[in-house]
Amino acid sequence: MAERKVIAVVGATGAQGGGLVRAILADRQGEFAVRAITRDVDSGKAKELAAMGAQVAAADVDDERSLEAALRGAHGAYFVTFFWAHFSPEQEIAQVRSMARAAKAAGVKHAIWSTLEDTRQWVPLSDNRMPTLMGKYKVPHFDAKGESNALFTEHGVPTTFLLTSFYWDNLIQFGMGPKRDADGRLALNLPLGNAKLAGIAAEDIGRCAYGIFRKGAHYIGRTVGIAGDHLTGSEMAAALSKALGEEVRYNAVPFDVYRGLGFPGAEDLGNMFQFYADFEDYFCGARNLAVARSLNPGLQSFGAWLAANARRIPLA
Ligand SMILES: NC(=O)c1ccc[n+]([C@@H]2O[C@H](COP(=O)([O-])OP(=O)(O)OC[C@H]3O[C@@H](n4cnc5c(N)ncnc54)[C@H](OP(=O)(O)O)[C@@H]3O)[C@@H](O)[C@H]2O)c1
Repeated sequence: MAERKVIAVVGATGAQGGGLVRAILADRQGEFAVRAITRDVDSGKAKELAAMGAQVAAADVDDERSLEAALRGAHGAYFVTFFWAHFSPEQEIAQVRSMARAAKAAGVKHAIWSTLEDTRQWVPLSDNRMPTLMGKYKVPHFDAKGESNALFTEHGVPTTFLLTSFYWDNLIQFGMGPKRDADGRLALNLPLGNAKLAGIAAEDIGRCAYGIFRKGAHYIGRTVGIAGDHLTGSEMAAALSKALGEEVRYNAVPFDVYRGLGFPGAEDLGNMFQFYADFEDYFCGARNLAVARSLNPGLQSFGAWLAANARRIPLA
């Protein structure tokens, strides 16, 4: 067999990157090998990936030289940032600049950048339907990603811009799952109005990215949006009721109430949900289920994801 082309994966020990690493390793006859990038090659997760057959390389996205060294010789690279590790859009933009520069210097032939919309193109700062945050953002963790798209283009990196969706895993890990009210009844409390939410199993993001690398040149320079389902809060609650064997009601939390919950990032997430709801047609339209399935034939619906994961959702 010809030598395999290496895909270097930032965030390899995390949700998106981990899905891609596992997808590449699972395709034993495939054309790619995988290089897992981590800050700590000795961590348990890094060792697990090595044991599965991944190369492992050390780099920190805050250190461009380390990133460039980790990308050397790679055909492809998957780039994701970690907004919730620092809550700084400026740091996120600086990290993307390092990724773009490092990819160019290392001669990467196909990058996938895991991005989101710059919501200010839909909601200018002068639009008071939602507060402006940190002086110049509406949804900081979206806007910084969308603003950063241009960095790949400016640096001449052959890039696919991957628009991701809301992880259903947030119901498990981010405390967004159903909660019991004072009467002990379960409610899914989300600020979505009656709009549909484009959601996905986090693992499927990496699997879709693998499909993009396989299709190669066709996707360079393009934006691709992916989701596993487009569902209203009521539809999600109905699916949860079925999976949990107990009724879950949908409670449409007002955007302002959610923004005022006081946990770190509450305003950012409140604005994000309002963006989903106010621009539902655009947002879901940009995340085509059939395209996602063509990249990843095993793409999970919300029901399929729940069948495998509902028991992991904490019901406080
Ligand atoms: N939650 C959602 O619904 C959702 C939806 C769409 C997009 N997103 C976006 O997804 C991004 C996070 O991706 P994820 O969920 O895949 O992350 P994750 O699961 O939290 O994974 C983070 C991984 O990245 C690595 N990492 C963290 N800081 C690093 C650094 N400075 N240099 C190198 N590696 C670093 C860590 O690996 P090591 O410790 O091994 O270095 C860690 O395992 C966020 O920007 C978020 O906005 C989230």
